[in-house]
Amino acid sequence: MAQDQAGDSGAPNAAAIEAAHAIYTPLMLSFYDRLVHGLSNRFAWRCPTERMLELYRSNLSSRHLEAGVGTGFFIDRADRGEFEQLTLLDINRHCLARSARRLARYQPLLCEANLLAPIAIELEPADSIGLTYVLHCLPGRMAEKLIVIDHLRPLMSKGAVLFGATILGRGIEPNGAARFLLRLYNAKGVFNNLDDDVEALSNGLKRRFELVEIETKGCVALFRAC
Ligand SMILES: C[S@@+](CC[C@H](N)C(=O)[O-])C[C@H]1O[C@@H](n2cnc3c(N)ncnc32)[C@H](O)[C@@H]1O
Repeated sequence: MAQDQAGDSGAPNAAAIEAAHAIYTPLMLSFYDRLVHGLSNRFAWRCPTERMLELYRSNLSSRHLEAGVGTGFFIDRADRGEFEQLTLLDINRHCLARSARRLARYQPLLCEANLLAPIAIELEPADSIGLTYVLHCLPGRMAEKLIVIDHLRPLMSKGAVLFGATILGRGIEPNGAARFLLRLYNAKGVFNNLDDDVEALSNGLKRRFELVEIETKGCVALFRAC
């Protein structure tokens, strides 16, 4: 982990955690979907948003928890008929407020929590967890960030599926736009992924799950584990 991201304990410090989500203001969230899922996925990361939507449509269960929900884009667009329980978890209250409004038809439960710390909520365990475009934001190396899965584990039923996507910073072939955005976002602390590669993701998932599937599309790793 980069020196300036770590506190004395080696855990990411509060400033690094804050930098990774403070950008999600109401104004920014009003154009986030068009910027990220409209433009960047296509022209910089070269991973079709439709491929991520397929991942959601095939893995969403009736008891779902979305970790790092952003605007609620994927749950909204996947357009599942109904949920027995839908939980939206985020460290950022603007993300929770916006996605709660957008997904009001599902009467979601809201949980304001930091994934890098143990999560103290009591819930019926979820059968699926979505974790999309969160890992590349979190400070630390991949092996350290994946502690978020250990924090989510008590909220998962036996056999629950974890799925999502993350933008890699290493072992990819970024085009000019991707190189520019990776440099810019990492300099601002919005991304912390310059050392993230598919091997580290795969190793961390395999240590925690029996079945791990990873597909890379452009700069993005799409994963599913149970
Ligand atoms: C790049 S956005 C992705 C949003 C959404 N999943 C998507 O793909 O559109 C990252 C999300 O992770 C949340 N986040 C960042 N750091 C977090 C943390 N430490 N704990 C919980 N959520 C966090 C942000 O607030 C934001 O909602």
